[in-house]
Amino acid sequence: MTGSILCSTRKRFRASKAARQSTMIPAITSRFMRISPVFTIPWRPVNAPRSPMVPAARVAFIDLAEDAGEALAARLAGARFAPCDVTDAAALTAAIDAASKALGPITVLVNNVADDTRHVAAETSAEAWRARLAVNLDPTFLAATAVRAGMAAAGGGAILNLSSINALLGPGGMPAYVAAKGAVNALTKALAREWGADNIRVNAISPGWVVTERQLSLWLTPEAEARWMEEVALKRRILPDDVARLALFLASDDARAITGQNLVIDGGRT
Ligand SMILES: NC(=O)c1ccc[n+]([C@@H]2O[C@H](COP(=O)([O-])OP(=O)(O)OC[C@H]3O[C@@H](n4cnc5c(N)ncnc54)[C@H](O)[C@@H]3O)[C@@H](O)[C@H]2O)c1
Repeated sequence: MTGSILCSTRKRFRASKAARQSTMIPAITSRFMRISPVFTIPWRPVNAPRSPMVPAARVAFIDLAEDAGEALAARLAGARFAPCDVTDAAALTAAIDAASKALGPITVLVNNVADDTRHVAAETSAEAWRARLAVNLDPTFLAATAVRAGMAAAGGGAILNLSSINALLGPGGMPAYVAAKGAVNALTKALAREWGADNIRVNAISPGWVVTERQLSLWLTPEAEARWMEEVALKRRILPDDVARLALFLASDDARAITGQNLVIDGGRT
């Protein structure tokens, strides 16, 4: 889900145990020290955030899932949630503008939304193709351009684009998703080059198979997981918290010299 976070101190913190075990937003919140508002494009929470830094942060996020968004906002003190369909470009930019006006310029943006519904190329109409790019690619560009001016005026910031190792592996069964993620990787490099002079860093994160509710309910069967474990170097599950830790690093000043990169977090699959 989208989140916009403002921290009131520059002191560096380590993430609390609760935050480390939780999902992206609380983990980021617990350690973003000199980063003010963060806007993340949908991230589905697994556990309630309990980071002590959350009350000090300003958070804004959007998601199509209204009930889940409101439930998360209720657990994040001061968080702003707005239901939004990111395929509606005007609604997306309006939501970002509203968050900026309420919280100040967005200095960290996490483009997280995606839809990995399976489909095969030969049976995909032009309209269906366009619709899949509208959720998997277009919002990354639109949200980044919507925050750019404010981020530049604030002295810089970080944009994180969630990609996937499927852009590197090219599996069948989800061609639009794979193509969109490949484009996200290329767009990441292009924006990093265009906006580097404004101290805006743009990086992609490419996870392997992350154990989320959706993956468990649809595709991550014990058999499929056993095959995955044979293919990876590290014989452990990749959890949302693992991705959150990488996002946290990339968005922080620890990564101040890193831009235009695609950071793979897949337990050694690729
Ligand atoms: N889970 C994995 O195994 C995995 C692997 C590689 C990459 N990724 C990437 O990581 C990111 C997060 O993945 P996830 O597994 O948490 O995804 P998810 O499907 O669990 O959550 C996606 C979120 O996007 C929201 N959403 C979907 N369509 C929307 C729309 N039109 N407008 C607004 N919100 C919308 C959903 O409500 C949900 O909250 C995605 O970019 C995904 O491609 C995930």
